[in-house]
Amino acid sequence: MIRFDVLTLFPQMFDAPLNESVLKRAQERGKITIAIHNIRDFGVGRHRVVDDTPFGGGGGMVMKPEPIVQAIESIKKRHALTRVLLMTPQGAVLDSDHVRRLAGYSHLVLVCGRYEGVDERVRLGFVDEEISIGDYVLTGGELAAMVLVDAVSRQIEGVLGHENAAHEDSFSQGLLEYPQYTKPRSFRGVRVPEVLISGNHQEIRRWRRRASIRRTWLRRPELLKKAALSPEDLRVISEWEQEGESCRETA
Ligand code: 6GU
Repeated sequence: MIRFDVLTLFPQMFDAPLNESVLKRAQERGKITIAIHNIRDFGVGRHRVVDDTPFGGGGGMVMKPEPIVQAIESIKKRHALTRVLLMTPQGAVLDSDHVRRLAGYSHLVLVCGRYEGVDERVRLGFVDEEISIGDYVLTGGELAAMVLVDAVSRQIEGVLGHENAAHEDSFSQGLLEYPQYTKPRSFRGVRVPEVLISGNHQEIRRWRRRASIRRTWLRRPELLKKAALSPEDLRVISEWEQEGESCRETA
């Protein structure tokens, strides 16, 4: 069970992405709760102002502190345990360890930044962590918040079925996934690897493990440093390393 409260100036952006498929079912079954709040409801004055020009000049607008802090406080009033996250490209870049750690909290509050940023005093007094989803700039924190909600939710027990539980992901072992195939057995001249139709489950497991490690070795070698590898895994990798460039296309 986990609760997400999202603070945004664009609540409608969240209408579809979190209300389909796995996350829809997880909400219906009470495994996760997602509440979206409009920061403008806490805007200053009759015009509900939420932004202003930056002190020191320069272009663009900065989100005022009062509406965001009031929105955070209105949620904290109702919930004892909260972890407040500010979605910003200045934050720590999210990875799978970080996602699993966040899934350990019972309540996350996500603040979505917009415009040229958020008044620094919000961060100083009211934010526990700043999070980015990668080294590129989005028009706002909303899409990043959706990514975080999705990634954290699938770590919560009961959100995924047993078959594809998050701990079954090769990523949870620090590896990329092995290639998948379905019917037909031959498609445009490309056949499904024989071992996968052999019915030999031990051989299938071995093939998938090797394929997973080979992909990781070819595409994301830096991930292998953190992966839990058996002596057999290390042996096949050193074989590939000896083979040289010629065989590197496959996978
Ligand atoms: Cl959290 N916000 C914005 N605006 N851009 C981003 C980001 C967040 N993460 C990566 N790029």
